Parts: sequence; structure tokens; C-alpha cells
Amino acid sequence: MSKTTITAALPYANGPVHIGHLAGVYIPADIYARFCRLQGKETLFVCGSDEHGVPITLRARKEGITPQDVVDRYHGIIKDSFERLGIQFDIYSRTSSQTHKETAQEFFKDLLDKGAFREIISEQFFDPEANQFLADRYITGDCPKCNNPGAYGDQCEKCGSTLSPAELKNPKSALSGAVPVLKETKNWYLPLDELQESFLNEYIHSKTSWKSNVLGQCKSWLNDGLKERAMTRDLNWGIPVPVENAEGKVLYVWFEAPIGYISATKEARHNDWQDWWTGDSQLIHFIGKDNIVFHCIIFPAMLHLRGNGYVVPSQVPANEFLNLEGQKISTSRNWAVWLNEYLDELPGREDELRYVLNSIAPETKDSEFTWKDYQTRINSELVGIYGNFANRVLVLMNKYYEGVIPSKAHSFEHSQLAKEYIQPILDKVQQYKFRDAQVALMDLARFGNKYLADHEPWKLIKTDAEKTAEIMQFAYEVLCNLCLASEIFLPNTFKKLQIQLGMEFNDVQKAEFWQKGEWFSPEHGSKIGELSLLFAKMEDDIIENQINKLQASIPAPTAETVAIEEELTIEKPLIQYDDFAKLDLRIATVVNCEKVEKADKLLKLTLSLDTEERTVLSGIAMHFTPEECMGQQVLYLANLSPRKMRGIESHGMILMAEDSNGKLHFVRPSANINAGAGVA
Ligand code: 2FM
Ligand code: ZN
Repeated sequence: MSKTTITAALPYANGPVHIGHLAGVYIPADIYARFCRLQGKETLFVCGSDEHGVPITLRARKEGITPQDVVDRYHGIIKDSFERLGIQFDIYSRTSSQTHKETAQEFFKDLLDKGAFREIISEQFFDPEANQFLADRYITGDCPKCNNPGAYGDQCEKCGSTLSPAELKNPKSALSGAVPVLKETKNWYLPLDELQESFLNEYIHSKTSWKSNVLGQCKSWLNDGLKERAMTRDLNWGIPVPVENAEGKVLYVWFEAPIGYISATKEARHNDWQDWWTGDSQLIHFIGKDNIVFHCIIFPAMLHLRGNGYVVPSQVPANEFLNLEGQKISTSRNWAVWLNEYLDELPGREDELRYVLNSIAPETKDSEFTWKDYQTRINSELVGIYGNFANRVLVLMNKYYEGVIPSKAHSFEHSQLAKEYIQPILDKVQQYKFRDAQVALMDLARFGNKYLADHEPWKLIKTDAEKTAEIMQFAYEVLCNLCLASEIFLPNTFKKLQIQLGMEFNDVQKAEFWQKGEWFSPEHGSKIGELSLLFAKMEDDIIENQINKLQASIPAPTAETVAIEEELTIEKPLIQYDDFAKLDLRIATVVNCEKVEKADKLLKLTLSLDTEERTVLSGIAMHFTPEECMGQQVLYLANLSPRKMRGIESHGMILMAEDSNGKLHFVRPSANINAGAGVA
């Protein structure tokens, strides 16, 4: 049987994992990996932290620490939280590992030696103030496709277009705010235009079984015509380009991150790692929709160029996005349910999270998590249907038979039961329809409940002991099958229920169930184990706490907010020089700027004072967009006592001039000068 290599997108180690990641990538991948193992396939499930890339350097800048500090912190948090949720990776590695550095460099060198790259000297954006080339993410400007003024150099988050910085209109540096200048530099490009003709067109068109959302995106890029793309970058955080005289250049993060899957395989399987990437091995990538181009176009092209028997991805079941309480999940706005916090705050509720997230997984379109819906699904489905059925069977078994399974044959056809209740679960998983598969699991629990309700053994026991035994034996049998089927969705519940059933399913039994889709029939005479609650009711106060916690990241208006949103011009009494001298006035550069949720007039600015950064809230949102503020030099009152608005601490204020039409203008030096300069 062929090997199955399953990968889950390497999460950026610039923050913890949130429910959007889980629903879109890690839970479906884990269900599928568990399924493959149970089917007896040779399965390898790899993942790890993506520790390079600009988001990490941005986070480091924001926190005033090194990128290495950032990735060390989040790698630990992410790895630990995956383990606690029961995501069963064979390895969770990281792209800062030595193996990965060597693997990625070797891959690059091999393609270089094969003449696969175009060496192109191009003009790249360079920040003359910061004296460095600018990564795509460090450049903002107007999107050429939709005119969004806040597009990044690599992507427009509004229209979803993949961009290159040269396409942006009115570009600005996020480092210093300076207008970037073009400077010559050499980089290595993947000739995707050629590869489209020689490989990609055929490759994509052969993938008729791919999900329509994935194929649709791929075909639209192919229709537009692919362009060559740089696989190296002028940057100082990443894996050095293994070529002489390439100092200051690193491998493009999207070149090396997918190679991370290979590196992780090497680390997990020292002796036979090649076998997982060659021959008839099936390579399956679980990702979110924003990663499609890299896994369906660029990485397959790289593997194809590498040759040496490397396989290309056979399936890429990418999902859409999960929203949270009506809004896009956002790491920077802290609008998320973080896995590590969930696990701390709701211990023992791992399977509940897995269940709910799989129920609402964004398989075909964006979907939505709300805490109320989470509560309803737990209480009415897990507690009300699954838990209720299990509990009734086991309690009655104890009551009537002292826990010993009666030996009465029932009249159901096993093959019919299998066809109706087991096969649909297997079929749906095989089709990557994990939501439907879980619905089929619950159909089995529903069937069990209905069977009990229809036959009422609690009444029948008074008149017909024999018939009652038959009913109870069958109910127990249904519960055994429900337990077996739960292993891929609800692994903790599977373990708990197995104990309560007095069972320990062996490999043969599991194989018959998962490989052949057979109905399991238990032996008579065995004894059930100790009972415990499978799912506890999710109480209102827990849900309210979570909702309140989330809402606290969008605080209600306060008196201070109102004050800052008021008029900015004030008549003032005369003061002495000493009063003036108390003011610490500086020139600062706006290096980041964003809207404040539910505060129409407020902008949150990050000001650079050269050696440090300050966060300032300013009531200028009606006058300027965040993009218009980016890069501005401003007059800044640095020693105003901090005050908190909408949960954000504002340090100091920026000074504005108001013209006779009521329009605000920045007060700034006549030429750009060093940020932090004193004003007296
Ligand atoms: O989008 C992301 O979070 C990326 N870090 C995913 C990388 S997947 C792969 F290429 F490694
Ligand atoms: Zn756009």
C-alpha cells in the first residue's frame, strides 16, 4: 500500500494558534491523519513552526525584542497547545532547525545547479533612511486592482490579490515612513511563466478531484498567466542564500517553508524519509485559502524541477476562513479565541472544541463561530444526543444486569447497519467532507436514542425480560460502534467511552471497522467499566465570561475618549517659560496606523522615536485614513500622562493644526529629519 504524507500548514510563530487555524487546517488534518492510520495506511503527519518571514520581524519590532525571542516564545506555546488538544502529529518541528536550514539550502542549490532559476538584477525598493531593502510587507500603498490604499507589497487584504511591491501605487516604507527608492539588486526567480507551459497547466487540469474552491483559484491564476517570482529576498531574517557574494540575502520564506515539510520528515524518519516523498507516496496538504497559490502552484513547480523522483501534491483540501462573532479573526486586533487560553480556561473541554469547530468548518465557504452556538451545539448535541444515549445504555446495563452484557441475539442485519451508519462516515472522510462525516457519526447516536425511545426497555423490563435483554444488548452494540467511530473526531471521548464500555478495541477490530466499514458486534458476557460523565452541560456563566472577555478587546467609550474626540482648538491663558519647558516635544514618524474598532473618530498610531516606539490614540480618523498617516512626520508631545481609551493605553499626543475650513493638518518639519528629534 502506498504511503500517505499529510502536512498541515506551518503556523507562523508570531502568535498563538486560534480557532480559525484549527477549524480550517489542524482539526481536519488530524481527523484525516487518524483515519488513514486506522485504515492501516502507512501515514506520516508533519507540521512545525514557520519561523521566518516578515510577520515575525514585524512582531519583534512591535515588542522591541529580537525575532529569535519571538519565535522561541510562540513555538513553545503552539507546540504545547496542539499536544493538549490531541493533534497527533508525528513530528512538530520548526524552520529554525539545522536540518531545515541544510535541506532548504540544498534544495535551492540543486535547482540553481540545474539552471532552474533566472538570475535577475532588478530594482527593488530600498529605504534610504533605514538603509535597507524593504520586504514586501514593509511597503504599503494603493492596490493596483481595487485601489485599497492599505495594500501591502505582497498582498492586498481587501481584494485578496497577490501583489509585488512594484505594482503598488504611492508606496511608503513602514520602517521610517520614507518614500522608498529603487535600488539594483540581484535575486533568483522561479520562471513560473515557463513552468506554466511545461508543467503547471497540465498538472492543475489533471486534478479533477480537487475541491472546487481550490481548483477555481488555481485556474483563475493560470488564466491570468503566471509571472516569474523571486525566490530570494534582501533581508536579514531567514535562511542565507547559499551562494557566494549573497550576503544580506535570504531564501524567500514561501520557498523554504514548504520545504519544512521535507525537513520535518527527515527529522521524524531518519532512515526512510525519502520514501515519503517519492514513488507512489500520496502527498496531501491541509491549508487555509490564503496558502493555495504556494501549495498548488509554487511548491509543485519546485518539486517538479527538483525531479529525483519527488512526488507533487496529490490533494490540497484547502478551507475558507472562520469568522468570530460577526468579524474577521485578527491577531493584531486580538479578535480571536486563542487555543492556549481556551485550554487553560476550559480544561477537559478539548473534544467539545474539536466537535464544534468541525461542525462549522469553513469547507466550502467562510463560516462563523459564536459562543452561543458553541454552547447550543454542546448542550443539545453532545450532551443531549451523544452523552444521553451513552448514559442511558450504561446506567440501564448496570441496573438490570449488574453491568454484564446479556447474550441475546437481535434481528438486525449487520451488513445493513454497516451500510446505513458506518459506510457514510468512511465515505465522507475519504471525500474530505469532515463536517458531513461528523453528522453521520451523530446520526448513529440519534439512531441509538430513537431505538431506546421506541422500545422503552425501562417499561418492558416489567413484562418481558427476554425482549428487554435483546434490546439492551443491541443498544450496547450501537454504543460500541459509536465509540469506535468517534476516535477520529473525539479522541478523548473515544478513550473514556471505551473504558466505560469495558472494551479495549484491538487492531483487528479497528481494522474491520475502518478498513472494511464493518459493523462491530461485541462478545456477550463482558462487563462494563466504571461510569463517568462524557460531556457536561455548558453553563451560561462560562459562555458569558467568554463573551465578556472577547468584548473587552473592544472597550466601550469612556469620558477620556469623548474628550479626545472633542474640538482640538482651545483658547489658553498665558503661561511662563517654565511651564513651556515642561513639555517634551519631539518629531516622531508614524510607522503604523490603524482604525480603532467602534470609535469612528479615533486612530491608533505607532510612532517611532528612533530608539523606541510609542502608541498614541488620536481623534483624527474623520480627517485622515490610516494610510494617509503612515510615514508622516509629526509633532509629538511625549510626556503627557498616559491614559487609557477603549482598552488601549495612549502615550502622549500628536499636535495638529486646524485651518479656517476646519480641516486638520499635520505639524511637521520642513524636511524629513531623524525621528525622535527634540523640539524647543
Ligand atoms: O500562512 C501561514 O501561516 C504560513 N506560515 C503557512 C506556511 S505553510 C508552508 F508552506 F509551510
Ligand atoms: Zn486590492
